[in-house]
Amino acid sequence: QTHGTHVSGTGGPADSRLGTGENDMTLTNRQGHPISDNQNIRTVGSRGPSTLENYHFLEKISHFDRERIPERVVHARGAGAHGYFEAYGKVGDEPVSRYTRAKLFQEAGKRTPVFVRFSTVVHGGHSPETLRDPRGFAVKFYTEDGNWDLVGNNLKIFFIRDPLKFPDMVHAFRPDPVTGLSDPERMFDFVSNSPEATHMITFLFSPWGIPANYRQMQGSGVNTYKWVNAEGQAVLVKYHWEPVRVPIKNLTKREAEQIQGKNYSHATQDLYEAIERGDYPEWELFVQIMSDDEHPELDYDPLDPTKLWDRDKFPFLPVGKMVLNKNPENYFAEVEQAAFGTGVLVDGLDFSDDKLLQGRTFSYSDTQRYRVGTNYLQLPINAPKKRVATNQRDGQMTYFVDRAPGQSPHVNYEPSSIGGLREATPAGREHEPAYDAKLVRSRIERTNDFKQAGETYRSFEDWERDELIANLTDALRVCRPDIRDRMIGYFTEADPEYGRRVAESLAKAASAADGRIGSPSGQQGVEMADEMGRTT
Ligand code: HEM
Repeated sequence: QTHGTHVSGTGGPADSRLGTGENDMTLTNRQGHPISDNQNIRTVGSRGPSTLENYHFLEKISHFDRERIPERVVHARGAGAHGYFEAYGKVGDEPVSRYTRAKLFQEAGKRTPVFVRFSTVVHGGHSPETLRDPRGFAVKFYTEDGNWDLVGNNLKIFFIRDPLKFPDMVHAFRPDPVTGLSDPERMFDFVSNSPEATHMITFLFSPWGIPANYRQMQGSGVNTYKWVNAEGQAVLVKYHWEPVRVPIKNLTKREAEQIQGKNYSHATQDLYEAIERGDYPEWELFVQIMSDDEHPELDYDPLDPTKLWDRDKFPFLPVGKMVLNKNPENYFAEVEQAAFGTGVLVDGLDFSDDKLLQGRTFSYSDTQRYRVGTNYLQLPINAPKKRVATNQRDGQMTYFVDRAPGQSPHVNYEPSSIGGLREATPAGREHEPAYDAKLVRSRIERTNDFKQAGETYRSFEDWERDELIANLTDALRVCRPDIRDRMIGYFTEADPEYGRRVAESLAKAASAADGRIGSPSGQQGVEMADEMGRTT
């Protein structure tokens, strides 16, 4: 039956789905009742009042009243696309099976469908895409062994290393709970009391904090994961996406403002239009590999997400590429309801002891049961493309029963000898790390909060350093002196020139302000600092 062609009772084949006078294009409500008047509610006389039994109207309006679900508590603003991942069958020059038995990587040319969602982090679902913020880069691989989510960002490191600090960090970066205004003083109050954030702040306030669009940026898993081979041996890995054919592109503050003045959705638009015109965005996936131990020879901990792994010691090894070639058909059903999580791994991939990763792993599915609902994994965008057979039943919005065709409908438990599901055969030996330590609350030993921040500062081009100093000046200008001094102290520890330039730039901004409109505060200060950024 093609859409909209067959009219019941006009000589065509009878179709039990269609009532008298109906065709495929006839409007109905969700009960299947044909709707003959979709313009007027029922009223007593043409001027009303209306009556309570206006079923069609009440159903229509009450569904509308429930159209929105809670937006993501972070990463609310996003865009998504479908595509595929193609494996190289190797990691660098070696067979990939030496390190992982994950099936999606094994064979050269093997394709796995993916769905990707890009996002900004701090502000709401309709905030401008030009904001200074990390960009989310979350990939769902629908593999033959079930789903794998690689939930990453564009930047390769993070602000904090302990998940206990995450809610405070997000609160500090969000608008003030009283005024509803963004306030750099709150952000830098938190950051100046969290020295481990110095490296991330150095990236974020440089042009790397405003990627030009989603196609011309990198991605990274940030956290340290493990790969496990058939013998159960593990290595530590970090994942990196590098854009193919297009250069990485970041924006100056001025360029971002110019775009934002005209378009709040430039990155979503850029992604959508590129795919529509057949210019499919592409990234290559690299891993860095370390043996699975503490690496006392390094001046950082391999499990610390505030650190980069040196590329000379741990080279980027290509393992495959990803192409995005299809836009979503419905933004809400796919992009908004997509649910990614760091716990979603397939056989051959494992967690490391990275504490931030372990904290994240609880948070994602917890929030998704609240945000989307108990049965969020039954939605097409989240469901694996392979078979699912569980004994999980019921709950709000159960769309179907996750039952195997041969499974007795009476047996929703395991073990059973009367027609229930059976456990799978292990795909290889379990990776079984051993522990011998006290249960403590304690920081990692090798915090080394500033050295890599200095290296990153020195690795920037001149214009990037100039932007960094100007952007930090804009933000710190409106902060209390003790916050400014702590930040200058951190930057100085990272690199004496970095600290000196921020201090000098702040002093210059303050004296320029004193000569003009007195001591600034709050939003007025931000605007004034903006203005000075233009004149100095
Ligand atoms: C989204 C928690 C750190 C990348 C989210 C969401 C939560 C969350 C609750 C919303 C998920 C949803 O509603 O579906 C946390 C916690 C973290 C943390 C507790 C640290 C303890 C990170 C880090 C990265 C990251 C380090 C980057 C590697 C993302 C991305 C999304 C996201 C990309 C959006 C996923 C999507 O597009 O749906 N995070 N996060 N998060 N997070 Fe995190």
